[in-house]
Amino acid sequence: MLKKIISVLLIFIMACCLVCSCNSDQTSGEDDLIVVGVSQVGAESDWRIANTESTKAVFTEDNGYRLLFDDAKQMQENQFSAIRKFIQQKVDYIVVMPISEEGWDAVLKEAQEAGIPVIIVDRMVNVEDDSLFTAHVGADFYLEGQKATEWMTQEFADSEEVNIIHIQGTIGSTAQLGRTQALLDALEENSNWNLLAQFDGDFTQAKTYEVISDYIINNDVRPSIDVVYCENDNEAFGAIEALEKYGYTCGEGGVRVISFDATKQALELCMEGKISLEVECNPMLGPLVKNVIDTIEAGGIPSKYQYVDETVFTPDTVTQEIIDNREY
Ligand code: AHR
Repeated sequence: MLKKIISVLLIFIMACCLVCSCNSDQTSGEDDLIVVGVSQVGAESDWRIANTESTKAVFTEDNGYRLLFDDAKQMQENQFSAIRKFIQQKVDYIVVMPISEEGWDAVLKEAQEAGIPVIIVDRMVNVEDDSLFTAHVGADFYLEGQKATEWMTQEFADSEEVNIIHIQGTIGSTAQLGRTQALLDALEENSNWNLLAQFDGDFTQAKTYEVISDYIINNDVRPSIDVVYCENDNEAFGAIEALEKYGYTCGEGGVRVISFDATKQALELCMEGKISLEVECNPMLGPLVKNVIDTIEAGGIPSKYQYVDETVFTPDTVTQEIIDNREY
């Protein structure tokens, strides 16, 4: 009798274990969907929101995917946790938009050991072993910065002095590092360019409005500003807001605001003349990321580094048609 009870109990325990193990692995195996875990930086800018939408639009069930999306709210620690959770959930692919370049080796090694391909999107990671990621899809941020400084060189060719305020993006992110380095290199080459001040705007309108306002208010003499070099559109919005509040005019004959991204709203300001140069940075990367995964699924090897083509706009080149057709 006792033997019978023990065997019934054993069967019951084994059945429970089976049910539990199925539930803990709900992300795969139940259907033919490819499970993709995405760790997004946050929602700091209009660009980022467009990038998230572009990603969500391709990884749909209709396209054969199950998307597990995590918003890290601007914290790298949250990105680490999300990736570790994706590993536990046994996703098929991990997609990461990294907040900054450093600190990724350990967590990407864990993904590699679990056999999960990692695709880096937008900004880059600085890791010792580049086999820790399968591909990178994004922009060449140094080249973007060079496009801006080339425009400045031409525009101020006859100026004796050029007074510049530099608003940086999130410190340590590839977008900040590349765009900043291009400006620093151009400052070395142009001895008549003066860097009046450099602030961290964290790619946001609010922080940029605050740092520029404080700079103007805290100067005994009203600063003479020729250029505000903003590392994204939301910073440009904050800069224009602050400059106009304190009586500056933005545009030709006033402060020349330079910006990166070229979102619809920024292109409108460019057409109005308030933004003098827009360097495009394309957030619509979802389809390219999907191509990487589709290539792997088909047994191919995707290109390791994929850069998107980008252009520049000035008040003379931007048109209503360009603005109307802008996806972001
Ligand atoms: O990494 C891309 C940059 O990040 C974009 O220029 C900016 O708008 C975003 O927040």
